[in-house]
Amino acid sequence: MTTSHGPRFSRITGTGSCLPPRKLSNADMVAMLAARGIETSDEWIVERTGIRNRYFVADGCNSSDLAATACRHALEAAGLKADAVDLIVVATSTPDMVFPSTASILQNKLGVHGCAAFDVQAVCSGFVYALTVADAMIKAGSARCALVVGAEVFSRILNFDDRTTCVLFGDGAGAVVLQESAVPGILATDLHADGRHVGILCVPGSVAGGQVTGSPLLTMDGPAVFKLAVGVLEDAARAVLKKAERTEADLDWLVPHQANIRIMQSTARKLRLPLDKLISTVDDHGNTSAASVPLALDVAVRQGRIQRGDTVLLEGVGGGFTWGAVLLDF
Ligand code: UT7
Repeated sequence: MTTSHGPRFSRITGTGSCLPPRKLSNADMVAMLAARGIETSDEWIVERTGIRNRYFVADGCNSSDLAATACRHALEAAGLKADAVDLIVVATSTPDMVFPSTASILQNKLGVHGCAAFDVQAVCSGFVYALTVADAMIKAGSARCALVVGAEVFSRILNFDDRTTCVLFGDGAGAVVLQESAVPGILATDLHADGRHVGILCVPGSVAGGQVTGSPLLTMDGPAVFKLAVGVLEDAARAVLKKAERTEADLDWLVPHQANIRIMQSTARKLRLPLDKLISTVDDHGNTSAASVPLALDVAVRQGRIQRGDTVLLEGVGGGFTWGAVLLDF
């Protein structure tokens, strides 16, 4: 806890995650697309992306439902009850409703009332953005115990007639408890956006006059996103290392956005990190957008790979175009 003399830091004290029960293999996707007259293959998906499975929610299950389960697991890991929480930040691009925020809906599902709760929208960089905001609020003294969540139901916005995107994404949620601490914790953060690239990854629809105007489905120029991603992820990694006065050699783990194993491995190689220090869940989860980083983090923590005191680099990249990194001592 912070003393009146010491500096205030934030530190992750618990992680949790949630995947919906319906698991679809690449073979399931091949069959689903074949029924629409569209050809794809397990070989293509694995070779180009590393993805083998993804999870889809059932009708009636929303981002806040996945988030609530992930938060309960994170609170349990931190040894806390929900009433200890005084801030909820949810990163999502697939909110339950246009408004109110998924964070408000989640707060009610957790049975706590009154604390600050809001959503952050930075697509696949959302969790890194949300963690940066929560860290800043804790350091500023505006909060002491935050739930920071990434939660998505991307299956709801996929165009199953577009094989270049629908095989890539899945649903899920991940959460961390971020608490005030006398020792770090979060060492450095670095966020960016470049709105010139709005069109390369977007859901261009909007609501007007009681109707959806434009397409409510995801569209992506995959190669354009790929090219931008490999460059900016290295830049963001180097930026947080410099801010924290650390080097690549200090990194124990890299937990990047889980979109494509080729992008993830390329980042690890540029940082001279052995590939066994790269946390990868993209094979089993697919791309869960804002949920991918906290999901991968929780899996690695529960496997006993990431341990207390390890230095971990989290990285996000996606629509906006947005990107960023968080360097932390776990
Ligand atoms: O989460 C936000 C961040 N998102 C990302 O990081 C995604 C970044 N982009 C990527 O991961 C890759 O660009 C993709 C996986 C989306 C695509 O891989 P690619 O190696 O860039 O392939 P491509 O788009 O250049 O397509 C190569 C070929 C094309 O055929 P032709 O034109 O060469 O005959 C596509 O039509 O692969 C074809 N193709 C497919 N074939 C079988 C595209 N999708 C499929 C498919 N099954 N599902």
